[in-house]
Amino acid sequence: MKSAPLPPGIHIASIADLAEVCAEVRSVVVNGAETSLLITRRGSAVAVFRNRCPHAGYPLQRADGRVLVQGGRYAVCAAHGASFLLENGACVGGPCNGEPLERVAVNIENGVVLTA
Ligand code: FES
Repeated sequence: MKSAPLPPGIHIASIADLAEVCAEVRSVVVNGAETSLLITRRGSAVAVFRNRCPHAGYPLQRADGRVLVQGGRYAVCAAHGASFLLENGACVGGPCNGEPLERVAVNIENGVVLTA
């Protein structure tokens, strides 16, 4: 099920705070409710997704709060190992059965990632 869109202009992250290759969990608060997002970076490619695996709906991070990045290319769900391309969230392995992560539209302005 697709999520309701987030209002525009919400600060998600600064590019300078992201490693060159990463998948990190960030939370934003909208109308008092917290939404968990996954921001990924692979060089100049930055993308944001809902932090909810399409397999069984779990967030992707491990108990230590980090998301495993495999081979510098894939974010791996800690629950059962579904793998997603950092650039676009496409399912590339594991039990996601072709279902991608749900992408969040963003703009990057002056090195800051904002909801679009
Ligand atoms: S919930 Fe992510 S692989 Fe099962």
